Amino acid sequence: MNLNAPRGTRDILPEEAERRRALERVFADVCERYGFGEIRVPTFEHTELFVRGVGDASDIVRKEMYTFTDKGDRSLTLRPEGTAGVARAYVEQGMSSWPAPVKLWYNMNMFRYEKMQKGRYREFWQLGCEVFGSESPQADAQVIGLLVTFFGELGLDEVDLEINSIGCPACRADYHEALRRYYAPHVKDMCEDCHDRFERNPLRMLDCKETYCQSLALKAPSQLDYLCDECRVHFENVKSYLDEMEIAYRLNTRLVRGLDYYTKTVFEFVSSHVGTQGTICGGGRYDGLVREIGGIDVPGVGFALGVERLLLELEAQNVPFGKAQSPDLFIASFPSTAAYALDLAQTLIRSGLKVETDVMSRSLKAQFKAADRMEAYYVLVLGDTEVSNSRGKLRRLSDGSEQDVPLTAVGTLLHDARKKRSGAETEEVRFEL
Ligand code: HAM
Repeated sequence: MNLNAPRGTRDILPEEAERRRALERVFADVCERYGFGEIRVPTFEHTELFVRGVGDASDIVRKEMYTFTDKGDRSLTLRPEGTAGVARAYVEQGMSSWPAPVKLWYNMNMFRYEKMQKGRYREFWQLGCEVFGSESPQADAQVIGLLVTFFGELGLDEVDLEINSIGCPACRADYHEALRRYYAPHVKDMCEDCHDRFERNPLRMLDCKETYCQSLALKAPSQLDYLCDECRVHFENVKSYLDEMEIAYRLNTRLVRGLDYYTKTVFEFVSSHVGTQGTICGGGRYDGLVREIGGIDVPGVGFALGVERLLLELEAQNVPFGKAQSPDLFIASFPSTAAYALDLAQTLIRSGLKVETDVMSRSLKAQFKAADRMEAYYVLVLGDTEVSNSRGKLRRLSDGSEQDVPLTAVGTLLHDARKKRSGAETEEVRFEL
């Protein structure tokens, strides 16, 4: 019997959870400043939504979905991505009658039956944004701008933006033909998946990871030479807005993305640090999606970024981010003062401080050891004398200095010390009494 966590899933322990919470907070804050509101949609949807939305030719739908039949004989699927569900909610909740554009962000777990490796899991989290109702290249440029702001606020450099345009269904048809002409003499030697892609969606052949297929992709015709006037001007405008915002990008004419709903702009943020799973974030425009899933003709553009890959990237670039805060104080106590210590900790925590106290009836030595391990800023030893005099010695662990203070003043002093620490990390904190 195997009772371990299923393959491809992970337990998220406190240290990582703290880092995630920190970056989720920054993301939520950035999104709100750009005028996005949060949306949460169901973890599972009718399978048909993803088949129509993500596309039955995509790897996700063909191989990676967690699909099951429920007791009511419905075929349901754990969401492999967020855009289809959010677009479904846009239709179902009548958001087309809201003032346009409708700008939504999300933080949701996704499920894909993929081969597990570093940065690739079967349950993973995405932070994403979707904009409905604008066909303007301004919207494309703004979601990219939002990402650049987010990465900047995390202190993350060295992620490269790659962009491309894959046109609209009209100009893509010509391009598909050009690709088929180019690949036809070689297809028999290509991988099995590419045989299938040749029939269903030759665009995806450009994205194949097999060495031989990749070598062919290098010389394949470029979509940019086949764009219709509207798509070409749209893409020129996206680029000029990015230039205006001084956002650097690399044109990658083989960038096609793995989901079938994209039109016009597609983009990815890639890193050289995260190894083969270097794509931290992917997105683009999906002007036909809402209609495809039963809504009116509403354009859309958005992105999703993989939280696990972002965390790996922050680690690889040594970005000090989301470290758990050290306790402001550790209160050491004896059996006779344990109740007082618990009560004092309760009061201080309720005032907003981070305070630890012993809950294991340990020896004083063991309590000091624990305070050291937690890197508490101060320790207060509460013996009978301290309690009866209502005064105690606050010891600063970094240099062992001690100050005799009234217990009623401890809260104010610790709040002041915290303020000074965050104002000037290096500045000496001294209590004047
Ligand atoms: P996607 O490229 O399939 O796009 O996924 C976006 C990001 O999710 C990837 O760049 C990667 O960081 C992360 N990701 C994907 N699969 C895994 C996995 N198995 N394990 C860990 N991380 C993963 C989408 O999902 C689109 N819905 C993005 C979008 C939104 N386009 C427009 N709006």
